Amino acid sequence: MSSDRIRHPRLRGLVVSAEEAAAHIQPGETVAMSGFTGSGYPKEVPLALASRIERWHSEGRGFQIRLLTGASTAPELDGALAKVDGIALRLPFQSDPDTRQRINAGTLEYIDAHLSHVAQHTWFGFYGAIDTAVVEASAIREDGALVPSTSLGNNKTWLDLARKVIVEVNDWQPEGLDGMHDIYYGTALPPHRKPIPLFHPDDRIGDTALRCDPDKIVAVVRTHGPDRNSPFNPADATSERIAAHLIEFLQHEVKQGRLPPNLLPLQSGVGNIPNAVLAGLSASGFRDLTAFTEVIQDGMLDMLRDGVLRSASCTGFALSPEANEVFKQNIGFYRERIVMRTQEISNHPELVRRLGCICMNGMVEADLYGNVNSTHIMGSRIQNGIGGSGDFARNGYLSIFLSPSVAKGGSISSLVPMVSHVDHTEHDVSIIVTEQGLADLRGLSPKQRARVLIAQCAHPDYRDLLTDYYERALHASYGRHTPHLLPEALSWHQRWLETGSMKG
Ligand code: COA
Repeated sequence: MSSDRIRHPRLRGLVVSAEEAAAHIQPGETVAMSGFTGSGYPKEVPLALASRIERWHSEGRGFQIRLLTGASTAPELDGALAKVDGIALRLPFQSDPDTRQRINAGTLEYIDAHLSHVAQHTWFGFYGAIDTAVVEASAIREDGALVPSTSLGNNKTWLDLARKVIVEVNDWQPEGLDGMHDIYYGTALPPHRKPIPLFHPDDRIGDTALRCDPDKIVAVVRTHGPDRNSPFNPADATSERIAAHLIEFLQHEVKQGRLPPNLLPLQSGVGNIPNAVLAGLSASGFRDLTAFTEVIQDGMLDMLRDGVLRSASCTGFALSPEANEVFKQNIGFYRERIVMRTQEISNHPELVRRLGCICMNGMVEADLYGNVNSTHIMGSRIQNGIGGSGDFARNGYLSIFLSPSVAKGGSISSLVPMVSHVDHTEHDVSIIVTEQGLADLRGLSPKQRARVLIAQCAHPDYRDLLTDYYERALHASYGRHTPHLLPEALSWHQRWLETGSMKG
């Protein structure tokens, strides 16, 4: 790697191997790392730390850290540290199979915080002091400012609060990222907070690089490694039907005058269904759209390229290897149209509400009254975490949840009498969409919601069972406002656990 990515003379003198850098991290430390949905995470120090932990364990010595990040990372970070039992506590969102396995085995403590909350909770002191920050940068400027890479996440907070800092400078990341970021330094703690002066999704209100006291930097590591960049599967028929229902609804809202022709800023979760929705928006002739979202995935890059999307605000990327190549080759074009922010700003409730975002997220299951479970399988097994879905769902103009109507080969209904875990209450959910149809829950009472949800969203295999439950609850429930048969409310989940099917 040429040395010009590290342009601060003293910091150039701190370049060491990943092993030497990892030696700065001691057992029991709270370590805050960069990384968001597989982008911008440190590539080598976590692996070197995992090797060190493994060595200690083989010598019969304990070594675990408390690990904070932006959101999910990659096998080289979460995976490597989980495999060697190096994580005592983890927060927030994760999607790593080894980490998930340990969390669900009960050997790794996990705190599933709203992504916009993590920075402020750290400032409030809720997670204790940060000992070490390990942050990926694409360059270090002459004045010591760090040019971030493909995610910003909580990096500002980590660098501000950590006692010592390790920087990985990754020259695989395009230099053209410089200028894409917007790091807002106007946040404060209550009672000194001021309104955030952001009024359009593409407003710029901050610095393009991260400030960091050079005296806190204890090591700099040069790396050259790709982000996780997982491939996307092509949209299947179910995703396309879900997308078609949603797009028809949005077109109807425009006709009714409740949405402008270029909609309102889009927020979209990651995955095949959201990708199908984005593709559908392009194909349906929507133009001049904007996005105020957490993560930019392939679909949004295509929309920017084609002029369907005018601009997009995010905190990280989740790109396939092919999309990443296109991004790198056209970085100047994308830098004009993408603003990367810290996650406390990209997901800020004040901004989501002011801008009136159209929020589209996946779910595990919903119940008859519109409560949504985004995180737990059968009420107890964590899948990933709430991510930013709560930040957006509670505050958006429209809060939309998308899911196939059945899971696990049809043995599970995504519409159940009562959700086995609640992430988004009935008060925060306006639209539910499955491949069967779209339930518009706005302005409906609980009983009205139940009827619409069964008619529009339930899979035919479960429609009669749901109707039967609802009708009996309507007559036998203690209260008739939100009818339930308490002994039966979670019996569908129990039946699946015992028999492998929710069907009676
Ligand atoms: N009951 C049991 N399992 C279910 C289920 C249900 N109702 N619905 C889905 N699942 C299982 C699937 O079978 C699959 O399991 P597998 O990995 O063993 O095959 C797993 O959950 C993932 O489901 P999948 O169909 O692949 O959907 P997805 O990738 O779209 O993920 C969520 C769905 C809900 C897990 C995902 O959207 C998520 O993590 N959401 C919360 C965070 C979020 O919203 N982030 C965006 C905000 S910015």
